[in-house]
Amino acid sequence: MNEPLMTIKNVSKRYGNHLILENINLSLYDNDFIALVGKSGGGKSTLLRLIAGFEPYSSGEIIFMNQRITSLNKQMRIMFQEDRLLPWMTVSENISFRSRGQQIKEKALSLLELVGLEDFANYYPIQLSGGQRQRVSLARALMANPKLLLLDEPLSALDALTRLNMQELIMDICSKQHLTTILVTHDVDEAARMANRIVVLKHGRKADEISAPEDKTNTEEINLIAAQIKTLILSD
Ligand SMILES: Nc1ncnc2c1ncn2[C@@H]1O[C@H](COP(=O)(O)OP(=O)(O)O)[C@@H](O)[C@H]1O
Ligand SMILES: [Mg+2]
Repeated sequence: MNEPLMTIKNVSKRYGNHLILENINLSLYDNDFIALVGKSGGGKSTLLRLIAGFEPYSSGEIIFMNQRITSLNKQMRIMFQEDRLLPWMTVSENISFRSRGQQIKEKALSLLELVGLEDFANYYPIQLSGGQRQRVSLARALMANPKLLLLDEPLSALDALTRLNMQELIMDICSKQHLTTILVTHDVDEAARMANRIVVLKHGRKADEISAPEDKTNTEEINLIAAQIKTLILSD
């Protein structure tokens, strides 16, 4: 097997006396799509923040592209449940204001095309639906050509149909752009449908790592895996 893109080795995280994550081990490879699932409060977002370099871990180490994560890394981008767009900027400004160099406008436009919003470049966030705003945040995340995309429940606030469309879009883009992805979700169906591996966190520990069906059209198998993860999360 190739070198991992990222290795999480025995990572623990404490807040004061509370041990939130305990000895997490995980390797990520190019084009991996990992879903991180578990009960609310189980440490999913915390682990994602450690990976993103937002916060230090208490022990262990995270190695990304042969370097120890100690702070923010330009090769990673994160997307949250809230779109975090700037309301006073247009869609295209929101996507491009952090970028420098030539052809920024063209690049922003081609990313808007990729997420199906080429006609909305001059709209303001308030003029868009929730799903469209998340498309803009996805385009913004891609502007920096990241290797690793971190998604913290980005679809949780969307209605069911929009959510399904967005799942398809994200899967399609991640595979086309050769992105490695970690998706935090509490939705086991979403995890089984989107990921190639599912990591179950329980009480701050990695309880299991399950392979998801490769054939994403095999609904029966996806449902089986989803049921299996659900049982695992709910059992004590
Ligand atoms: N900055 C913080 N200070 C203290 N405790 C925190 C902090 N952030 C998260 N926690 C605690 O860590 C636990 C895991 O939270 P979180 O990672 O947000 O869980 P999840 O994303 O799985 O719902 C929770 O008990 C939460 O209260
Ligand atoms: Mg969370």
